[in-house]
Amino acid sequence: MEVHDVEMVMSAVAASQYPTDQLPEIALSGRSNVGKSSLINKLINRKSYARTSSKPGKTQTLNFYRVENELYFVDVPGYGYAKVSKKQREKFGQIIEAYLTSRSNLKGLISLIDGRHEPTDDDIAMYVFAKYYDIPVLVVATKMDKISTGKWNRQEKIIKEALDFNPVDQFVCFSALTGAGKETVWEWIEKQCAI
Ligand code: GTP
Ligand code: MG
Repeated sequence: MEVHDVEMVMSAVAASQYPTDQLPEIALSGRSNVGKSSLINKLINRKSYARTSSKPGKTQTLNFYRVENELYFVDVPGYGYAKVSKKQREKFGQIIEAYLTSRSNLKGLISLIDGRHEPTDDDIAMYVFAKYYDIPVLVVATKMDKISTGKWNRQEKIIKEALDFNPVDQFVCFSALTGAGKETVWEWIEKQCAI
């Protein structure tokens, strides 16, 4: 999709604050600092529309970005960041769970995993959770510019094995720096949202 118009319309922590215009929604989850906001910026061709930071824990609410009046991206607080207090983490967990389990507009989850490493327990738990609730998932391995393309297949295999990856889902290697994988991500989104 050629994106010209994006608007951050909502910062929500409860269902009463979600948008009411019934557009399809695609959520993005992943540990803090994995590159969720960077992926959104790359998809919409903006340098820093969604706030990115080298400091983890930047995104603390569900941020709804309306794209071309066609769909919403829902930027979700990052999980697994030790310096966020336990109480805060539990709060994030509740916000995310309430949204993912109750939102009929939700058409798919983009689950971001750091492509340089094995998935964390939290990454695996998020995937299992999405499968339990029958949410279609696109697993995106991020920061792939940091490893040579010759090692991409091996990383894909490691990540899929750790997740017990279901072939109904899709996997893509991505870099917000080079734009690798961007077209595949858009194709998956358009398919889920029937655009
Ligand atoms: P939270 O909002 O804290 O959950 O983080 P986030 O997942 O939104 O991560 P964010 O997009 O803010 O990126 C975190 C850091 O990783 C930033 O310094 C980014 O510039 C960097 N980063 C993100 N994606 C890539 C990538 O594909 N390649 C490289 N080299 N760096 C990246
Ligand atoms: Mg973010």
